Amino acid sequence: MITIGYTQLLPELSGVLQVPRQSTAAKQPCDKILEAGAGAIAPVRFSLVVPTYNESHNLERIVALLSERLDAVLPNRYEIIVVDDNSPDRTWQLAETLTARYPHLRVMRRQQERGLSTAVIRGWQAAQGDVLGVIDGDLQHPPDVLQLLLDAIAQGADLAVASRNVDGGGVSTWSAMRRFLSRGAQLLGLILLPGVVSRVSDPMSGYFVVRRSAIADRSLHPLGYKILLEVLGRGKIDEITEVGYVFQEREAGESKVTWKQYRDYIRHLVRLRISLGRLGRFSQRLNFPVGRFVRFAFVGLSGLAVDMGLLYLLHGRLGFGLTRSAIVAAELAIINNFFWNDRWTFGDLAQQQQQRHQVIKRFAKFNLICLMGLMLKILLLNLLFNGLHLNAYLANLLAIAAVTLWNFWINLKLSWRITQVK
Ligand code: GDD
Ligand code: MN
Repeated sequence: MITIGYTQLLPELSGVLQVPRQSTAAKQPCDKILEAGAGAIAPVRFSLVVPTYNESHNLERIVALLSERLDAVLPNRYEIIVVDDNSPDRTWQLAETLTARYPHLRVMRRQQERGLSTAVIRGWQAAQGDVLGVIDGDLQHPPDVLQLLLDAIAQGADLAVASRNVDGGGVSTWSAMRRFLSRGAQLLGLILLPGVVSRVSDPMSGYFVVRRSAIADRSLHPLGYKILLEVLGRGKIDEITEVGYVFQEREAGESKVTWKQYRDYIRHLVRLRISLGRLGRFSQRLNFPVGRFVRFAFVGLSGLAVDMGLLYLLHGRLGFGLTRSAIVAAELAIINNFFWNDRWTFGDLAQQQQQRHQVIKRFAKFNLICLMGLMLKILLLNLLFNGLHLNAYLANLLAIAAVTLWNFWINLKLSWRITQVK
């Protein structure tokens, strides 16, 4: 889906969170200005994403500082992409007005999707450079370090991370509690995902630069704040350099960290653990989402319980006719299944399509597919029983298994699919 506010804004992106190998980004208006001035222009090499939410008090300063640094190291070969989640303080609007003064600044205003990690990836998807970066928009990440990160990439690193835990790094005045939580989170990561988290000293860093080729064409599934985990876990990262930096105090605006971020962090670790573990590899080799299917099958079982229970209640207890009871029971089971599939089995996909009409459409499709599944099941059962003379219960079991697979596959492709529209 494309939402265009002003022509100067970048279109909001949707669909799979995946950075293309080659930039598909349209040439920005400022390229034309440059072209007019300097004849042939060199392609953008570095794209730096600044995710923002209510950072209007910091934005102007950070854009000025970043532009100054980048003008010195990569004149005319960089872009700064502010990705703002429709901030109530209208950060996106301020950013847009700044584009007049900073021709390398581009702005994406997101109204459909939210969250720090996805904002970063959406920015990279719209980026032109073959080197991609991210920096907080609140000046807690010192812009001076950027040059060292870019140097590291120029010297061959696939990933350069600004770290609080190497020489020259640190935090300014964190409370004992915050230090404890930060270290605790890191320890948890080391336990759950040793192969990923141990590769850098500061896996929580949100300030880093990565080669496009290292993450290109990999479908990313971040959750919450820690985008670096995703890059480390799913990217093809060989060489890593770390550069020390001191996490500055926030001077304006406020941090968006709440307990939700801790919960998301743990869920993110678990998700990565599963997809990088044995099940994930198996899934990949099979080219079939095994974990998702297992969830779908579990939901199916819960639906069976709902169906049987209601049939017993309506027909057995309340004395309604069998057909009527069976229809009501089946529909309520379908509603039950839809609810859990939408929240759990396909929760990650549903999250990106939360508008009422989208949910209703999914529900209608789900109903239809289940109905077709039911007919298919009866057909199969007959075939197995009458045609192949299998035992009736075995035939039923096989038919159920086959139809569950069919239901899963068709629903994945049709109900919860994410269409990518350019
Ligand atoms: N687009 C968008 N959407 N931006 C967001 C969102 C969101 O939902 N939430 C936060 N941001 C932006 C903020 O505006 C800021 O620029 C940056 O992301 C970091 O948010 P803070 O709330 O300031 O986080 P912090 O100070 O706790 O920083 C922690 O997280 C950073 C990012 O991973 C630390 O762990 C840092 O080291 C880390 O870089
Ligand atoms: Mn901050």
